[in-house]
Amino acid sequence: MIYVIGIGPGDQDYLTQAGAQIINGAEIVIGAKRNLESIKDFKGLKLEMGSNLEELVIYLKANTDKKIALLASGDPLIYGIGKYLSERIPHTQLNIVPGISAVQYMFSRIPLDMNDLYITSSHGKKPDFDRVLSYPKVAMVTDHLVGPSQIAQEILRRNLKKVVIVGENLTYSNEKITPFKPEELTDEIKFDRNVVVILDEK
Ligand SMILES: C[S@@+](CC[C@H](N)C(=O)[O-])C[C@H]1O[C@@H](n2cnc3c(N)ncnc32)[C@H](O)[C@@H]1O
Repeated sequence: MIYVIGIGPGDQDYLTQAGAQIINGAEIVIGAKRNLESIKDFKGLKLEMGSNLEELVIYLKANTDKKIALLASGDPLIYGIGKYLSERIPHTQLNIVPGISAVQYMFSRIPLDMNDLYITSSHGKKPDFDRVLSYPKVAMVTDHLVGPSQIAQEILRRNLKKVVIVGENLTYSNEKITPFKPEELTDEIKFDRNVVVILDEK
């Protein structure tokens, strides 16, 4: 059985008990380097995941008789590997264990309800900003190409009244959550891994 475990935004305290129990009882744990580092106590076989997802699926399909825990950051089905795997691995062999998303955690810190929230991502795509910025409450997981300052430029270009809140290194000791007016977000400001929340100005 392949278990895809949402391990939360980073700090081990945010891994669910269900996830921890499955990891501890697994024969093999697969994950990105950063995610494997978060399960220091696991003594079984750890395999670092490369970027070739086709290879990963071939490996998983050939080993469904083993108890494999595949670590995914946050929640696997929020812009994570859950979608890719659920479209390729028979559902009888796949068990997705939800985790706390970086987006969810970010909203708890603001704090603000997630009702009617539009969740999107800039990973590997140029977001449709006309659509994204038409919503009053947006959360975006970002990549290095489209982050806080690019989002701010799109807001300024449309002359919209928005507030941009940037959450970096969520759950880690260097966590930083900062509200900005779009005009403050110049290219010179560099950010660590972040979630961006875009709200209509009140
Ligand atoms: C591929 S997405 C995965 C999102 C994940 N499935 C979730 O639910 O949190 C990776 C992006 O999530 C955001 N992210 C994940 N963990 C984070 C953290 N600890 N602090 C800030 N952003 C984080 C960043 O935008 C990062 O580029």
